Amino acid sequence: MNSLKETLKGRDFLSLHDFTPQQIALMIDFAAQLKQMQKRGEPHELLRGQSLGMIFQKSSTRTRVSFEVGIYQLGGRGLFLSPSDIQMGRGESIADTARVLERYLDGIMIRTFDQSEVEELAANASIPVINGLTDLLHPTQVIADLQTVKEYKVKLAGLKMAFVGDGNNVCHALLHGCAKTGMHISVASPEGYLPKEEIVAEARQDALETGASITITTNPEEAVAGADVLYTDVWASMGQESEQLDRMKVFEPYQLNDRLTAMAAPDYIFLHCLPAHRGEEMTAEIIDGPHSVVFDEAENRLHAHKAIMALLMAK
Ligand code: CP
Ligand code: NVA
Repeated sequence: MNSLKETLKGRDFLSLHDFTPQQIALMIDFAAQLKQMQKRGEPHELLRGQSLGMIFQKSSTRTRVSFEVGIYQLGGRGLFLSPSDIQMGRGESIADTARVLERYLDGIMIRTFDQSEVEELAANASIPVINGLTDLLHPTQVIADLQTVKEYKVKLAGLKMAFVGDGNNVCHALLHGCAKTGMHISVASPEGYLPKEEIVAEARQDALETGASITITTNPEEAVAGADVLYTDVWASMGQESEQLDRMKVFEPYQLNDRLTAMAAPDYIFLHCLPAHRGEEMTAEIIDGPHSVVFDEAENRLHAHKAIMALLMAK
């Protein structure tokens, strides 16, 4: 375990595809361990005196608060850096920003639009860079999601997840995450909104190591059939607000409601990264119903982020 931990020291966290199944399993299990320690009141100041810069080019409730509180609970401090506060918002290059911030900080978390911006920041900073969501991927979310599934279902390998909705950043990260942990995943999206082929190809490559199966379909019934975990996300992501009305029509058959969820395993759990739009991607009955574990999932962002930071930023 300790030698596996060593392999994560100083690493960037840009995509789950970059890690081995063993490293992903360690992140999930370490998150569960830190959760227990926090609940028992056991000290775990693993990053005492360290500082995390948090660059947010998009809004956030969960990611911002859980990273900031998380680094604090680990004995360090977080700095919220919005585009209106830092010179990057006025055109200072990503590379120069990286070269400066690495002189002050021990890690950087960034939420932005293009995945290439996160990659450029990481390429120019010698300290760990954590992807807090891009248009392409949302990998920190998925560590918390998998932790949540394991809490409820005890295992991951061999379960079936169905993601119904937009083939977006969360869907992409789930494809990687399920493939790396041996969970079968079925994605159902409308034509034109399917996950990107390059990500599906990466996940198929990851799945070779674990035996996970990956199904991409336009048929929501097929995806949901017998699933242990149902997952959905907003139909229009941040930056797609102008497409909202058009998307409402296209996605309507993909709403998770009583009819569709009746086809899942009787003891399925419902996940959503949040924020959610009741009456759109799922009905209120589903997200507020007995199968929903979305607030445990949101809580687990805290524990998962603490695990990611503690593993990457360890000195
Ligand atoms: N799920 C998630 O990332 O939420 P926030 O946008 O509030 O951070
Ligand atoms: N797909 C959503 C996730 C929000 C956490 C978005 O990018 O807006």
